[in-house]
Formats: sequence, structure tokens, C-alpha cells
Amino acid sequence: MGLTDILSIISDDLDRVEQEIDKNIQSPVPLVYEISKYLLDGGGKRIRPAILLLCSGSVGFENGALADGWKKIASAAAIELIHTASLLHDDVVDEAAVRRGKKSSNVVWGNKPTVLVGDFLLSKALGLIQSCGNLELIKAVTDASAKLAEGQVLEVMSSASMIETTEDVCFGIIENKTASLIESSARVGALLAADVEDSDRIDVVGSYGLNLGIAFQLVDDALDYSSTEQEFGKQVGQDLVEGKMTLPLYYSIQDATKTEQEKLNKILGKDSFDEKELSFIFEIVSKYKGADKTKDSAKSYVNKAKESLTYLPLNEFNKSLDMLADFVVERKN
Ligand code: FPP
Ligand code: MG
Repeated sequence: MGLTDILSIISDDLDRVEQEIDKNIQSPVPLVYEISKYLLDGGGKRIRPAILLLCSGSVGFENGALADGWKKIASAAAIELIHTASLLHDDVVDEAAVRRGKKSSNVVWGNKPTVLVGDFLLSKALGLIQSCGNLELIKAVTDASAKLAEGQVLEVMSSASMIETTEDVCFGIIENKTASLIESSARVGALLAADVEDSDRIDVVGSYGLNLGIAFQLVDDALDYSSTEQEFGKQVGQDLVEGKMTLPLYYSIQDATKTEQEKLNKILGKDSFDEKELSFIFEIVSKYKGADKTKDSAKSYVNKAKESLTYLPLNEFNKSLDMLADFVVERKN
């Protein structure tokens, strides 16, 4: 089933989220709107707002406490704005060339406006969350936003010594830079819909978001080694070029022969790689099926996410969350 079908029960709310986003990126400074619109109109999947809305429905459906209409729209828009801000900053940090099938903002307008528009979007997002008037919401979102930045710092630091990056470090980066905001989307949805005594349900929903978020990034890391630029909407093989140790490479190194490991150690100890070195590493990842192993790991996290759903009332929102989890591992971009 395609994403549009999976999300059909929240399609009206997702349209309202788009309107709320557009309202919040208006600015008397034309370039601020232009850069924001350029990335936001670039074909993002709106996974985070969808998770927030579905989790809200899933928790609130049974007890009739369906979330306050405007608050869930506003907080879903806020989370997408934070995600967008983080992508603008990420493309500067990674010196990216392509995002969502188009030249990235840093290439079109340069680093300075790109970083600053990221700051604008983050500020707008925090203002929107604040206007929901719920301190728990503010905490969930600001905690996640801090973790995004921490994840990026961990990643930048680990790229200085690629070969010393362990599996635990890889997972630490994934949890911070990606899973934290997806977990927070789920929690915010549940917080808006739950009764005060529903803290167990909020934790169950949080665990769905965390595990789905880990799976989401694992698939991204696998696609970076196994997809094509046309399908992926961004350059492939970039993680290696940027000096990032991700699990497809990590798993392949573990399975490589002693001689291959020695050669890999020498190459990965360098600051940058030439064409021959890059080809050798890509061949190793292909030979030892690093991308497939990473996808297998993603599947196990998706199964954990789906298992959380069994502790929630079975309703149409819950079913969509279950299908969304399958979509995350099957996605091609
Ligand atoms: C994409 O990772 C990047 C992220 C998921 C998070 C980026 C976070 C920051 C730059 C910190 C800034 C934080 C805020 C709150 C503004 P990737 O480079 O692996 O994926 P890609 O291939 O899509 O670029
Ligand atoms: Mg990047």
C-alpha cells in the first residue's frame, strides 16, 4: 500500500498542517519565505506530522478525548518546521549538493542564508509549540531538538576517526539525530489526546516512535549504499565521501577477511579517499551485503515498533501506524 493510502484517514488534517506551515513561513524578508518554501515544497513525506496525528488518534479514539483540533495541527506543523530547519543546517554541515531531487539550498543561495533560514524556522516552530500552552509539549519538543544537535556533533566528531567508530556510537548518532524527533512526534500526539492517567500509553507510543525512528535512519543509511540518485532524491555514497561510518560499512568490515580489513584500516585512516579507494570500499559493502544487513536490522526495529501498538486500543489509527511501520522499511526514498 502506498503512503497516500496509509495516511488517507488523516488527509484533511495533513492539508491543515500544510496551511499552518505556510502561514508560519511568511516573512517580510522575501528570501526567508523563498528558501523555506523551496525545501518545504520539495516533496518531503511529512512522516513526522503523520505520526503525531495518527498517535493522537490512536490514543484518544477510545476514551473520546480526541486531541484539540488546532493544537495537534499546530504541533504537527511545528515538528515539520524543526525537521526542515535541521535539513537546512545539515546540508551546510555536509556540504550537500542535492536534496529532494533538487539542488540543495546551500548550493542555490549559499551557506549563510541557508543557516539563518534554519534559525528562522526553528524559532517559528518553538513559537508555535509555545502557543499550544502545554509545558509537557514544549519539553518533548525542545528535548528532541537539543538531541538533534547533539547527534550531529557526535557524527561530526566520529568522522574524524572513522575506523574507531563502534556499532554503539553508530546507534547513538541514529537515536539522537533522527529517532529523537520521531519519538517526540509520537509523544506529542499522545500527550494531546491522553487523559492525565494515561502515562503508560504515552510511553508505549513513545517507544513506537523511537523504534520506528531508528528503523527510518537505518533504511536511509542502507539506501545511501544501495539506491540511485534518481530514486533516492539525493546523492548516493555520500556517507562514505563525508567520512561517516554507518552500519552498512561497519557490518561489512566485521565480515571482511583479515587482508581486506588491513587494507580498509589503512584507507579509512585517511582524511579523504581517491576514486580507487572509494571503489574498493563500495565493493566490500556490496560483497558482504552491508546494506541488506542494515535493512534486516531496520526490520527488527520495525517489529519492535509494531509490538508496541499491541498495547494500544485497536482502531483505524492504530492500523495505519502499523502499515506506516511497514512502509518505512519498504521505502525507496
Ligand atoms: C540528516 O542526516 C540530518 C538530520 C536527521 C539531523 C540534522 C540536525 C542538525 C543539523 C542539528 C540542527 C538542529 C536543529 C534543531 C535545527 P544525514 O546527513 O545522514 O541525511 P541526509 O542524507 O538526508 O543528509
Ligand atoms: Mg546530510
